[in-house]
Amino acid sequence: MESHVTHAIEAKQQQVEALMRLAPVIPVVIIDDVKAAVTMARALVAGGIPTIEVTLRTTAALDAIRAIAAEVEGAVVGCGTALTARDLAAATQAGARFAVSPGSSPHLLDAADDSELPLLPGVATASEAMALLERGYRHLKLFPAVPVGGAKLLAAWASPLPQLRFCPTGGIALASAPEFLALPNVLCVGGSWLTPADRLAAGDWAGIERLAREAAALR
Ligand code: 3PG
Repeated sequence: MESHVTHAIEAKQQQVEALMRLAPVIPVVIIDDVKAAVTMARALVAGGIPTIEVTLRTTAALDAIRAIAAEVEGAVVGCGTALTARDLAAATQAGARFAVSPGSSPHLLDAADDSELPLLPGVATASEAMALLERGYRHLKLFPAVPVGGAKLLAAWASPLPQLRFCPTGGIALASAPEFLALPNVLCVGGSWLTPADRLAAGDWAGIERLAREAAALR
């Protein structure tokens, strides 16, 4: 089993751990208008949230990553919803510093082995977590966190799977984040509540900065 754990994966795992420790929340962003990307990212950084996951669900996503990487000092921008080798390559080319996926398919993991981009892969079961551990992954996203069991599930995994550290994402909000962040195997949580579609559409950057500030104060 250990022979599968390459030096390269361990180096990327350390990068993932470092970015998971940058702030208590990784905002999950669905952006439709690339023109909003830089201002939005500056508002998040100003509020104390440097790590930003831009999901590859919109046509604007790659350009948004490119703009944030080039123009927003202090931001660590990555891609979310990475499903394929092509996604990893495109995100790397755009300047992403990390990738997040909702699951952990063998093809994506093979592509991640060949990519310089650190991957935070998603799991929903102990078997998926064990399969990733066999490949050298100790830092995982629990997805969708609340529907699959939430904080109770993570607390139950802490004893049999003590090597693993999680970024639970999916169904978490400001009020429920502390319950997750109090767990010994949680380094941060992910969530879309910092960049709601209505505030993005309205250009409410002060409001987004306020949401970021509240999130940053969670730890
Ligand atoms: C998503 O799939 O959009 C993320 O998991 C965020 O989930 P949330 O909107 O429940 O925070």
